[in-house]
Amino acid sequence: MAVDKGFLWGGATASYQCEGAWDADGKVPSNWDWWLHERELPNADVASDHYHHVLEDIALAKEGGHTAYRFSLSWPRIIKDREGTVNEAGIAFYNKIIDACAEAGIEPFVTVFHWDLPMYWEELGGWTNTQTALAFEHYARVCYEAFGDRVRSWVTINEPKWFTSRGYLVGDYPPFHQNAQEYIQAGFNIMLASALGVKAFREGGFEGSIGIVHSYTPVYGIDDTIESQIAVRYADNFNNNWVLDTAVFGEFPIDLVTELSRTYDLSCMKPEYLRIIKANTVDFLGLNYYSSTDVKAWTEGETTLRFNTSGKGGERGKIMVKGWFEQVYNPHHKFTDWGMEIYPEGLYHGLKKAFDKYHVPLYISENGIGCYEDIVDEPVHDDYRISFLQDHIAAMLDAMDDGVDMRGYFVWSLFDLYSWISGMEKRYGLIGVADDEEHRRVPKDSFTWFKRVIETGGDCIDRSQYKDEPVASPESA
Ligand code: NOJ
Repeated sequence: MAVDKGFLWGGATASYQCEGAWDADGKVPSNWDWWLHERELPNADVASDHYHHVLEDIALAKEGGHTAYRFSLSWPRIIKDREGTVNEAGIAFYNKIIDACAEAGIEPFVTVFHWDLPMYWEELGGWTNTQTALAFEHYARVCYEAFGDRVRSWVTINEPKWFTSRGYLVGDYPPFHQNAQEYIQAGFNIMLASALGVKAFREGGFEGSIGIVHSYTPVYGIDDTIESQIAVRYADNFNNNWVLDTAVFGEFPIDLVTELSRTYDLSCMKPEYLRIIKANTVDFLGLNYYSSTDVKAWTEGETTLRFNTSGKGGERGKIMVKGWFEQVYNPHHKFTDWGMEIYPEGLYHGLKKAFDKYHVPLYISENGIGCYEDIVDEPVHDDYRISFLQDHIAAMLDAMDDGVDMRGYFVWSLFDLYSWISGMEKRYGLIGVADDEEHRRVPKDSFTWFKRVIETGGDCIDRSQYKDEPVASPESA
C-alpha cells in the first residue's frame, strides 16, 4: 500500500559540501575553510556552486517529484562574529532557498548545524569549549526567527558522533586531533548545544517540530554468548546511545558515563547543563543509514579507528576499542568502494529497534551510495545506485508495515557534492554535477527512477526480498 500523502520524499545536501562561495557576501571562514586552506587539501571553496545554482537545483527537485528538500544553514554565513552580529546577506540567501521551495511545493527540512563551525569559535577550542555550545543557542534562535514562519521541520545538529569522532579522536577531520578527552568534551558540548537549540525553539513558540540527525549504526553480535552481548552494549553506547538516548530521554547512558569516569575528566558535565539536556528533548529522530556493524568481544590489540577514505575497494575500516568491542565483517556481504558494508536488512532491524526503544517519529534523513562516476552529457546509468536505494526503501517500507512511524526518506544526496576528505570524486547525487566551469547539472538514471518511486508512494518498489523470511543474524569473522 502506498505511503501517505504527507510522507516526505526528497534529497539532502549540506552547506559546506555544496554551496561554494566560501567568502561571498559577508560570509566569514568556517573551520573547514581555514583548516583545508592551511593544509592545502582539496576543499569546497566552489563545490557544486549551489550558491549560484540554487534555483535550478530546486527546479530539478520539483521536476523529480520531490516533496521535500533537506539542506543546512551555514553558521559562518549567518553570524559574523562572537558578538552574534547577523549577516543579512546570509539570511537573504536562505530566504531565496526557502521561498523557491514554497513556490515549488517542496517542504524545507532544515538542519541548523552540519559541521561548518565559524573559525572565530574554532580558535577558542571549537566544540571542546562549552562557550561554543552556549553560542549555538543564539545562532539557532536567529534562524528560527528569520525562517520559522515558513519552515516546519528543524534539525538542531547533523551527526554529532561523526564529526566529533573524526575531528577529535580519529584525527582526519578538522581540527585533526587525536585525543579521547577532547572527544568526550566535544561530544558532551554538542549534545548540550542540541538541547539549547530545542530550548530556543520551544521558548520562541515556533510552529512545527524539531529533531536531531544521527549517523545510525545498528549493532549485531556474532553470537548469543554473554561476552558478545556485552560487546554489543559497548558498541551500541559508542555508536548510537550517547546521541539517541540523550536526545530523546535527556540522559546519557549511565553505564557509559560510569565507565568513562574511571579514566576521563567529566567535569564539563555540570548539573545545570545536565538539567538543560533533561528538559529539552527532541520531537523526532532523523537517522542517516549507510551501514550496520557486527562486533565481537574485544580480544587483543590496541584501540584502532580506521576508515577507508581512498575509495580503493579492498580496504576496510576497522573500529576496535580496547576492552570494549572489536568490529568484524561478514565475508558474504557486499561492500562499496569505500569499504562500507551494504546491508539493507540492518535498516529494517535498526528502524524497528529505534522505534521500539524511543517511540518518536522517524525519518531516514540520509541514505545513498558514493561511487566514482564520470559526468558527461549523457545521464550516468547508475543501476548500482538504483539497486542500493531500492533495497533500502524496501526495508523501510517493511518496517512501516510492522508499525514503525516513518515520516520521510531523503536520498543522500540531491546532487553531487564535496564528500569531506574524500573530495568531489566520491559522488552520491541523483543529479550529476559536471567538472566544468558551468557545473552543469546532469540528472542520472536514479533521478528518473526515484521520481517513479515518489509518484507511486513506494508501490513500485520490489518488496519480495525481505517479506517472508526473518533475516538470520550474520555469521561474521
Ligand atoms: C553523512 C553526512 O551527514 C554527510 O555530510 C556525508 O557526506 C554523508 N553522510 C556521506 O558520507
